[in-house]
Amino acid sequence: MGGIHFVKLFLCKVFKLEKHNHILAIESSCDDTSAAIIKDGAVLSNLTFNQSIHKHLGGVVPELASRAHMEKIYTIVDLAIKEAGISKDDIDAIAFTRGPGLLGSLIVGVNFAKGFSLAKNIPMIEVNHMKAHVLAHWSEDPKPDFPFLCLTVSGGHTQIVLVSDYDQFKIIGETKDDAAGEAFDKSGKLLGLDYPAGPVIDKLAQEGEAIYQFPKSKMQNFDYSFSGLKTSIMYFLRRELKNDDQFIADNLANICASIQQTIVDYLLDIFFRAANQLGVKNLGIAGGVSANSELRMKFQKMCKENGYIPHIPAFQYCTDNAAMIGITAYYQFLKNDFVDHSVYPMARMPLK
Ligand code: KG4
Ligand code: ZN
Repeated sequence: MGGIHFVKLFLCKVFKLEKHNHILAIESSCDDTSAAIIKDGAVLSNLTFNQSIHKHLGGVVPELASRAHMEKIYTIVDLAIKEAGISKDDIDAIAFTRGPGLLGSLIVGVNFAKGFSLAKNIPMIEVNHMKAHVLAHWSEDPKPDFPFLCLTVSGGHTQIVLVSDYDQFKIIGETKDDAAGEAFDKSGKLLGLDYPAGPVIDKLAQEGEAIYQFPKSKMQNFDYSFSGLKTSIMYFLRRELKNDDQFIADNLANICASIQQTIVDYLLDIFFRAANQLGVKNLGIAGGVSANSELRMKFQKMCKENGYIPHIPAFQYCTDNAAMIGITAYYQFLKNDFVDHSVYPMARMPLK
C-alpha cells in the first residue's frame, strides 16, 4: 500500500530534500460533490458542485444524489487539481468521507478514492464527516487552541463536541431527534419553501420581526430536541390559516424571523451553559447551520460579553466541502493513519 509514497519520503529524508505533501480530498456524503487540494495543511483549492435537483422535492432524494455524484466527481477533481496548479503525480494521498452520510453517495466517493489510490499507488485516508466539520476551523488562521468546544449544527447532526486534540473528540450533548438543520428545512417545508430552507429562512428573517413565540424543549444535561418545535409550528400555521388563508403569504418574514430566533437562542443557550460548566475558553460553531447570520452574530456577541474566544469558519468551510476533509486528513497523514482497499462506507459512523 502506498509503496511509492514511502520511497519518496525515504529519499527526501536521506537527501534532505524539502518535502511537501499534497492531499486530494473528496466529499460526497450527501448532496454536494466536492474536491480539494491541501498542501502541508493549507487549502490550495476547494470546489463544490451543489445538486439543485432536490430543490423542489422537499429533501435529498438518495438515488438522485448518488447518480449526480457519479456524473460530477471526475470533473470536480480535475478542476480542483487544475486550480491548485499541480498535477495528479504530485498527489501523495487521497482522502475521502467514509461516513456518516447517505450510503449511495458515500459509495461513489469511497470507490473513486480506491480507484485513484490504485492508479497512482498512493495511500488512502478515511475521514469522519462530523470530525471534519469541527476541524474546518483549522482551514484558516488563526487556528483555535485546545481544548476547543464546538457546536456542530448540520442537516443531520446537532452536537456539542469537546476537542482535546486533532484526534480526541467527546460528545458532550446532542439532539435526541431532529437536527437543527432539519428543524430549519422541515419548518420551511411547512411554509412551502424550497429545500434546503435554512438559507431561505435566514434571508427572509432579515426583513421580519420575531413576533411569534414557539416552545423550546427542556432536555437532560446538554442535549437538544427539535421535533416539538416542528409540531408546534405545524399547529400554529393550521390555526392561523383557518382564520386567514393568506396568513403565510402576508406574514412570511415575521414567521421566518420567529422560527430562526427560537432555534438560534435554543442552540446558544445550551452551548454556553456547557462552555461555562466545562470551563473551556475556545469556542466554535461548525456545519451548514453555522452559515446562519443570526447564529454567527449572536455567537460572537455572547463570546465577547462573557470572555470567550469565538471561532467561526468562513462560509465556504461551513456547509459541506472537501477542504475540511483534506484538513482533517492532513493531521491523520502526519500520523500515517491510512486505510487499505478493504475499507467500506459507513452511513452511521460514530464520532470517537
Ligand atoms: O453541513 P451541511 O452542509 O450538510 C450536512 O452535513 O447536513 O448542512 C446542511 C444544512 C441544511 O439543513 C441547511 O438548511 C442548513 O445546513 N443551512 C442553513 C444555512 N445554510 C445552510 N441553516 C440556516 N441558515 C443558513 N444560512
Ligand atoms: Zn455536513
